Parts: sequence; C-alpha cells; structure tokens
Amino acid sequence: MAFWNRRLSIDAMFEPQAGGPGLRKSLSWPHLMALGVGAIVGTGILTLIGVGAGLAGPAVMISFGMAGLVCACAALAYAELSTIMPASGSAYTYSYAALGEIFAWVVGWSLILEYSLVVSAVAVGWSGYAVAFLSGIGIDIPLALTVGPHVEGGMINLPAVAIIALVAGLLLLGTRESATLNAVLVFIKIAALVVFVAIALPHFDSANFTPFMPHGFGAPFVQTGVMAAAAIIFFAFYGFDAIATAAEETRKPERDLAIGIVGSMLVCTVLYIAVAAAAIGAAPVSSFAESVEPLAHILRGLGQGVAAQWIAAAAVVALPTVLLAFLFGQSRIFLGMSRDGLLPTRLARISSRGVPQVVTIFTAIVVAILAGIMRLDELASLANAGTLMAFSAVGVSLIVLRIREPNRERKFKAPLWWLVGGVAIVGCIIFFFSLKASTQLYFLLWNLGGLALYFVWSSRNSRLAKRNQA
Ligand code: ALA
Repeated sequence: MAFWNRRLSIDAMFEPQAGGPGLRKSLSWPHLMALGVGAIVGTGILTLIGVGAGLAGPAVMISFGMAGLVCACAALAYAELSTIMPASGSAYTYSYAALGEIFAWVVGWSLILEYSLVVSAVAVGWSGYAVAFLSGIGIDIPLALTVGPHVEGGMINLPAVAIIALVAGLLLLGTRESATLNAVLVFIKIAALVVFVAIALPHFDSANFTPFMPHGFGAPFVQTGVMAAAAIIFFAFYGFDAIATAAEETRKPERDLAIGIVGSMLVCTVLYIAVAAAAIGAAPVSSFAESVEPLAHILRGLGQGVAAQWIAAAAVVALPTVLLAFLFGQSRIFLGMSRDGLLPTRLARISSRGVPQVVTIFTAIVVAILAGIMRLDELASLANAGTLMAFSAVGVSLIVLRIREPNRERKFKAPLWWLVGGVAIVGCIIFFFSLKASTQLYFLLWNLGGLALYFVWSSRNSRLAKRNQA
C-alpha cells in the first residue's frame, strides 16, 4: 500500500499485540486529574507569566484568555478522541486513524519535540526558583553552574540537569508509585498558588493596569503584543494531553479520560486567571517581567520575604510533577510509534516494572543536555510549536471522524464539534505564526529531518506496510 493510503483502522487498534508484557492498568480518574494538573501547572504560570507580561503588558490577561480558549477546545477534542481510541499514542494515534500515516508521523515527530522540550524548559524554570531559594538560605551556587553559555559567565545549568536525572530515576521505579507521589506534589503546588493569590490580592492596585496594552494587540508575524504573549503563555495551559498518553494504563478509560482531561483543564484555567490578576494588580509589570522567579519576586516586593521563600520552596518541590508527566508521556509516544513500526521496537521494550526503560533513559539524557545549555524562552517556544501542530491535528481529526464515522460510539461527545474543532485549528495556526521567526524555522527543520527519516526507514518498516506485503 502506498504510504499516502495507509490509515490505521480504529477497530484494528485494539487487536492484541505480540511480544512482551503490556502496560499495567493501575490508574483511575483521580490519578488522571492529578497527572493532568501536575502536568499543566508549572513553569508557564510560575515563570513565563513574566515573559508574557513583558510582551503584552497588563493585557497579558487577554493572552491568558486566548490561550485558555484554544486549549479548552483542544481539550474537548482530546477528550472525545481519547474515549474512542484509548491508546497510548494520543494525538499521534488519533491522526493515524483519522488522517493517515504520513500525518501521524508529522504529529508524532512534533510530539517528540514537544514532550522533550517541555521537560528541558521546565527544568530550567525549576532551576530559577531553586537557585533563588538556595540563595535565600545562604547557599550561593556559582553563576557558571546555574546558567547556560548564552549568558556571559554561564557554562551549564547544573540544577536543571540534576532534576531531570532525579525524575527519570523516579519514573523508572514504576508508574503507580510515581503517580501517587505526583498527587501529593500537585496538592503542594496548588496550595502555593492559592497562597500567592491570598497574599497578593489585598495589595491590588488598579493603577498597575494602565497603560493596559502598551505593545498593541499584535498579529501573526508581529513578535510583540497580546498575540505574541498568547503564543508563549500557551505553554502554561497544556499538559492535559499527557493524560491521554496514559490511556492504556487506565482502568475505565471511556469514563476516566474525559473527566481527567476536561476537569484538570478547568481547574487550571480558574487558578491562572486568579494568579495573573493578583500578580498584575500587586506589582507593575516592569518590576517582574525579567525575573527568573516572578511570583516569589512579587511577594518579596510586597515585603513578604518569608512567603516568597515558601512559594519558591513549593515550586522546587512540586514543579518536578510536570517533568514526571512529560517524561512519562514522551515514552508513551515512542511506544505508540514503535509498536506501529515507525520507530525501532527495541526502543519500546517494557521492563518487568512495566516501564519502557530504554526510551525513558535515552530521552532523559537528551533533554538534560538541552536544559543544561539552552534559554528558557527558546525551549518553551519550540515546545509550543510542536504542541500547536499536535493540537491542530487533533482538531482536524475530531472533525474528520465526526463526518466520516458519525455512528461510531462516542462515550464523551464534544459539544458543537465543528466550532470546537475549528477554533482549535485556527487558533493553533495563528499562535504558530505569532511565535518567533527562529522558532518557526527550527520547527520546519525538525520536521524536514523527521520526514527524511520517515522515507528512509519508517515508511518501509511500518506495520501497515508490512501487513500489506504479507
Ligand atoms: N503547562 C506546563 C507548564 O507550564 C508545560 O510548565
């Protein structure tokens, strides 16, 4: 079968696979909500809120709304598709069934970029809070060991490398243990944000909201203003997609996935709006836009040094949940792609602890190197580019499957599917073109490399191609 005609049948997706033990079914919806919130709340709200505010001014509130809207639509599409196809490849698998192999490859390859760079970006964000926290208790790490070579005097971001090594180790101990620990850490993270709002809100000064839109609204290809901020703040909202990659480890996927995805997205949106309003109301944007730990910085400015230190401590303890979820998700994407013959099966071998060991270790090494040397905003932008590709493909898949298979059983149905799918697609395209030009170029190069690999190796080893030859 020619590669452009290869499409996975949804029913065939559930045929038993040959070889090796399957993933353990140990998760239910509270685990998934914790996994979702654990993956969503992270460097985006804790650190990139400063970058976004620098680009948009107080109007970053609108950027939050725009990014939230696009992500909510994508979340609804994910929820519907994940209950039709509870397979660990998430957007990659949905595209394989709805759009065909070549699209699935591009989506899978983009997801690999997303998941990897999120881990790197969040580790760098974590390092910002960790270094400031340590400095607050009198432990100063030399600059050369806390930032990459992009800063004068910097060499390697060692704390970022160390935290990735720690989280990868946790993950190798097994899914269930990690998920339970994750739930505790998620609680700490939410508590920290609630405390921030409670302390900052009484200092609300509406004067901080003027001028409201100092850099204009912006537009695609204009790399400042509300749109550019939305394209970067988008980072803060995703992570719920990592839930879909846990589909095969979920006890009742048809119910738990929809609750986990939509529920965690709602909780985070409410929290973010409160945090953004409290932050901007409490301090002029210019005072925290450049900070590597903006929320703690704002509290210090309010004379709340002790609370600032506690928030930093909570970030240090709890941010690794994001790393955990994305490293977990990354291995599941590899698993999905290698099972389909698009990546070497050796990568997907599952250990006796139910963990795909090789890919977890390999990914951890690569992302640790990137975290050690690259800038946060560059890592986050490129991660966003990969995510935008995946989310738009999910929007298209939702619409295509509704039209092509209207009678297929859907345990969760996205309301107004054409609108939800349409907003996800158009929003992602606009955000993509609002990212930095260099990000767009790197993303293009990444996918050109991916397509070369596809035509040289994957398209010939694809399970669908081989089945056809048999
Ligand atoms: N949404 C995640 C974060 O903000 C990726 O860290």
